[in-house]
Amino acid sequence: MEKKEIVLSGIRPTGNLHLGNYFGAVKNFVKMQETHTCFFFIADYHSLTTHPTPGNLQQNVRQVLVEYLAAGLNPEKATLYLQSDLPETAELYLFLNMNAYMGELERVTTFKEKARKQPDNINAGLLTYPTLMAADIIIHKANKVPVGKDQEQNLEMARTFARRFNHMYNVEFFPQPSAFNFGEELVKIPGLDGSGKMGKSEGEGNAIFLMDDPKVLRKKVMRAVSDSGPTEINQVKPEPIENLFSLLKVVSQPDVVDYFNDQYNNCNIRYGDLKKQLAEDMIAFTAPIRERIAELNADQDYITRVMNLGAEKARESGRHTVEEVRQIIGFRKYYPFT
Ligand code: TYM
Repeated sequence: MEKKEIVLSGIRPTGNLHLGNYFGAVKNFVKMQETHTCFFFIADYHSLTTHPTPGNLQQNVRQVLVEYLAAGLNPEKATLYLQSDLPETAELYLFLNMNAYMGELERVTTFKEKARKQPDNINAGLLTYPTLMAADIIIHKANKVPVGKDQEQNLEMARTFARRFNHMYNVEFFPQPSAFNFGEELVKIPGLDGSGKMGKSEGEGNAIFLMDDPKVLRKKVMRAVSDSGPTEINQVKPEPIENLFSLLKVVSQPDVVDYFNDQYNNCNIRYGDLKKQLAEDMIAFTAPIRERIAELNADQDYITRVMNLGAEKARESGRHTVEEVRQIIGFRKYYPFT
């Protein structure tokens, strides 16, 4: 039998999932669990760079797990686990850090951005974020990593660290993982504030969360940045308008997108109508997920069972890799943690 390719990806538990997380990542997770050996985790170690309280951490971790399940992930098909339930990840991270260099880590765009945003908290975890991410991926010897566009550079780093390990010990141990999106470019879902991507921390009103109440959602969409409308036939769309169309493309039917495109190209567009349609299509898309979130939230036993099952399956795979890594490195062949 042909061995299935291994897929891994994760999300930081730093708040509710938004449409960017869904269309950039989770949508592919749901599809890939049918055909690949999949590991999807919650990056709770990573979230410590922003120093959450224990209460916040627990709540956010649980919420992401609930939203994974509500979006269609199946714990019987994929391994769904918490990063901290696989502590061997931290050991592999330590090994990789010995061959990760200040210069290359300091050049990572997300590090530079985060250092700019939180100048009082430029901690070592932030700098070594890409080595921890590489450890997450290669601990299961994953080949494909479904992520959004913003993770591209981190994936390049993961490839570098995997290659470096193989080279250093003259082994073909770790495969080269690559960022993945079904036959297309990696996705960047824009926010509602006219520029840049949808993000958890990009300011009030920029992101639409899967959890958003229809009233809140409508309000956010109606307030999205637009402009005073095109003045010439077939005018190129400025960024805020292009963004609204990008959002329409992911939640609406193609004929709806075509209709508003024609309206725009003929200078007849009414942004109010477009936004109303966009909001209703977003509500239609998120409503079933929101309902499942509420159901799952009421079933703590099930959530605990899912966490325990995932922890077991993740350790079965990850422990094995780290055991071999220890031997490749030259540590003695005794593994105390089994
Ligand atoms: P995080 O938690 O920031 O985002 C989770 C996933 O959502 C995608 N995403 C987007 N995609 C398209 N458009 C957007 N506006 C948008 N916003 C977020 C992200 O690309 C990501 O796929 N470092 C990761 C977590 C992580 C990880 C890993 C991922 C830790 N270890 C190993 C893959 C493999 C992160 O912070 O994602």
